[in-house]
Amino acid sequence: MIRNDALPSKLTLYLRRIYYYIKNERFSKKFNYDWNKTQTRFDIINKLINSKKFKSYLEIGCQSDINFSKIKIENKVGVDPQSGGTLRMTSDEFFSQNKDTFDLIFIDGLHIHEQVLKDIDNSLNVLNENGVILLHDCLPAKIWHQTIPQTHSSWNGDVWKSIVQSRTREDIDTYTIKADQGLGLILKRTNRDKLVHPINNFKNLKFKDYYNHHEKFMRLIDENKVLETIG
Ligand SMILES: C[S@@+](CC[C@H](N)C(=O)[O-])C[C@H]1O[C@@H](n2cnc3c(N)ncnc32)[C@H](O)[C@@H]1O
Repeated sequence: MIRNDALPSKLTLYLRRIYYYIKNERFSKKFNYDWNKTQTRFDIINKLINSKKFKSYLEIGCQSDINFSKIKIENKVGVDPQSGGTLRMTSDEFFSQNKDTFDLIFIDGLHIHEQVLKDIDNSLNVLNENGVILLHDCLPAKIWHQTIPQTHSSWNGDVWKSIVQSRTREDIDTYTIKADQGLGLILKRTNRDKLVHPINNFKNLKFKDYYNHHEKFMRLIDENKVLETIG
């Protein structure tokens, strides 16, 4: 969830919403996820680090280090062009020069489908064997939480479309943990439940599709089944 200091004005967000409503999609159904009742991303990340004895961690998008500062691990790298972490650059800049590999990578940078796809591919290239990729903000509750551009102060972006697209790949196994705004989970192993969805451009998916095919698209797992799922 973006807590953006440079959030557009309320009027701008409202006008963008009207434009989106007229030009893009009208859909009022919503999910009642209550993220205050689930574990946080840092609870889950630290549990994974402990049980898998992970030694190296990369976070893409750190902001004010709310998550990054709580991660307990030997080696951690945080990349953000604006604030927080350890390196002041975009994820693309980082991956173009990086020579390290990582056990756990947390993708939480620019929440736009096309960039998230790049971050996933680049992360897969530097993920250690039996490593894990997590992605934040995969389960928007309402249409307004996932529009591009942003139309609401609570905003997840359209990261969810990258999860759906990843679900169609043979070479990776993708899930979504029902915790903390939805945590995507990507493992470098053959897909155990490949999604078949005939669409050329996943950017064109609508919130209505996400709502109507929620379990199948996102492959939801309980927050207490993460270790079991990873195996
Ligand atoms: C939602 S915040 C990250 C929150 C943080 N991971 C946490 O859990 O507390 C998103 C961050 O991504 C950063 N960001 C934006 N574009 C980026 C890019 N291309 N590469 C890396 N980070 C980016 C922003 O500056 C912002 O600080």
